Amino acid sequence: MSKVSAAITGVAGYVPDYVLTNKELESMVDTNDEWIVSRTGIKERRILKGEGQGTSVMGIEAVKLLLEKTNTDPSEIELIICATVTPDTRIVDTANLIAKATGCDNSFTYDINAACSGFLFALTTGAKFVESGTHKKVIIVGADKMSSIINYEDRATCIIFGDGAGAVLLEPTEEAVGFQDAYLKSDASGADNLFIKAGGSAYPITVDQVMAREQYVVQIGRPVFKAAVSNMSDAVKRVISRNNMTVDDVNWLVPHQANRRIIETVAKMSDYPMERVMMNIEKYGNTTAGTIPLCLFDYENQLKKGDNVILTAFGGGYTWGAIYLKWAY
Ligand code: UT7
Repeated sequence: MSKVSAAITGVAGYVPDYVLTNKELESMVDTNDEWIVSRTGIKERRILKGEGQGTSVMGIEAVKLLLEKTNTDPSEIELIICATVTPDTRIVDTANLIAKATGCDNSFTYDINAACSGFLFALTTGAKFVESGTHKKVIIVGADKMSSIINYEDRATCIIFGDGAGAVLLEPTEEAVGFQDAYLKSDASGADNLFIKAGGSAYPITVDQVMAREQYVVQIGRPVFKAAVSNMSDAVKRVISRNNMTVDDVNWLVPHQANRRIIETVAKMSDYPMERVMMNIEKYGNTTAGTIPLCLFDYENQLKKGDNVILTAFGGGYTWGAIYLKWAY
């Protein structure tokens, strides 16, 4: 019997309707459209509005569309993993809420937090269940409601992030397609450059912390920028070389959408042409775990069976890596 690989057999995405433009941000903080576009490439981002509306709301829509597109009966789904830093609540995992609302009653579920690299870490984990033969239909969701942890008085962060979700279906295949390789890394020496101080077990929320707005994301942009470009380009080059490829063999590079300049620098440092780099940052900003599946969703009709695709991300922690897969449909 030939080797079983985990293949992505469908992709879907969802972004909320509300569009937060650079113009609207100009009325909220001391910024301007020219600065935001030239420094980040972002023109607008989506925001999930409404009381009680959590990340699962977007994950549910993405998974419903995924099940419909792939003509999959929800009862066949055995595992749902949701990568997120913004779970609906602290105890019930968001993947569990998604499973309930989409009728995936036979699945077990859990969330993974690897910040902006979350989708890569979750996809790799899900692929192992499929490759081992224990699970046949696995859904990986990348979803974040970043607006719930952003300080809209901090111009260094509020212009960057947005809300959104994407999801893929993983199934076994014996064809020479699907998940091929993953290089994943974590290094907490970057913990002081991108973090939320309050709300975890080290600093549970207090009134004083809320008054100091410590429940929100803090980012020291420049060191994160430098670490992002060097580590993502290193991960991309390693995965290309250890799979005996050159950049010419790679049909698509799918980078985490944090900053247009980061994406362009990673492409340049990897000697990779921008024409084959997926990018939709101008529409959605940085949706953390949502960016990569949302890119795959937007570019789905340009992908062909057998295409060599490299996904790469860098995020808080730090966490980073690259995945090599052969597109399966
Ligand atoms: O996704 C997870 C990982 N995150 C990333 O990969 C993000 C990495 N970092 C970045 O993308 C960039 O560092 C930022 C987009 C966050 C910032 O861009 P930058 O070119 O590194 O700007 P900076 O933070 O060095 O700030 C340059 C100037 C400063 O003014 P001075 O000190 O030069 O007078 C800032 O105060 O720009 C100012 N500034 C702004 N001006 C207008 C910072 N934010 C804004 C703003 N509007 N929104």
